[in-house]
Amino acid sequence: MNLSKNKWLKYKYLEHSSSLTPYLPSTKQFSHHNFLRMMDKYGQVIVKPIGGSRGRGVYQVRNLGEDLYEIHIENRQHQFMGLDAVYSYLQERTKHHSYMVQRLITRATVQGRPFDMRIIVQRRRYHSTWKVTGKVAKVVGPGYIVSNIERSNGKLMRVSSALSESSLSDMSKTMLKHKIKHVSIRSVKRLDRLFPGHRIYGLDIGLDQDGHVWIIEANLFPSRSHFRKLKDKSMYRRISSYIRGY
Ligand SMILES: Nc1ncnc2c1ncn2[C@@H]1O[C@H](COP(=O)(O)OP(=O)(O)O)[C@@H](O)[C@H]1O
Ligand SMILES: [Mg+2]
Repeated sequence: MNLSKNKWLKYKYLEHSSSLTPYLPSTKQFSHHNFLRMMDKYGQVIVKPIGGSRGRGVYQVRNLGEDLYEIHIENRQHQFMGLDAVYSYLQERTKHHSYMVQRLITRATVQGRPFDMRIIVQRRRYHSTWKVTGKVAKVVGPGYIVSNIERSNGKLMRVSSALSESSLSDMSKTMLKHKIKHVSIRSVKRLDRLFPGHRIYGLDIGLDQDGHVWIIEANLFPSRSHFRKLKDKSMYRRISSYIRGY
């Protein structure tokens, strides 16, 4: 698998930077041992393909108590008695590809639905300064867990509006936005060493219910389509001009 699409290797590279570890949800390669360990530690995890994209094959697993577990994939939920049954179900469906198991971030919500954000970070050709050139909030579609807009029929919102209307509306928006920007730029500066010459990143950033920032994943080939869809085209134009190089 191409390194630029390998979520596991990108995660491991980011994790080596101690300034980023507080923002990285604990992640292991999917195996029986690691799955049990992570379920024991966090009670809820995400199992997703290392080479995945667009929210395909993303499983959410939750311990509901009294040995009852729930798997949520797409807009479907399945319940199981005992972790062995959960593991067998996942193993059967994940055996043809490599998967990883990640701590589930209990994301902040807008109108009861979790959201995360797509942050675009770029630099111009021959320049070394990284800039946040676009940001948008993605609210998961009804019944889904992934915020990928096409897959879950989710909703795009301006980050400011999402924060104001969210479960974090009591927190300072300026402070949250500052943290998001700080973590995004830091992540990109780290990845820049792994992908020298690359000039654009699209980060999936989540906020938990305490307003803590989490890096969900880093994309090297982010689509501009979200920004094209917004009524205000200024971010779209800025991203496009950075892509052209100036
Ligand atoms: N650890 C996690 N906690 C909460 N939500 C997650 C987690 N991992 C993924 N998701 C949700 O699933 C979506 C898809 O996962 P992601 O890692 O971005 O893969 P891809 O977009 O390449 O399929 C994310 O944008 C987010 O909405
Ligand atoms: Mg993603």
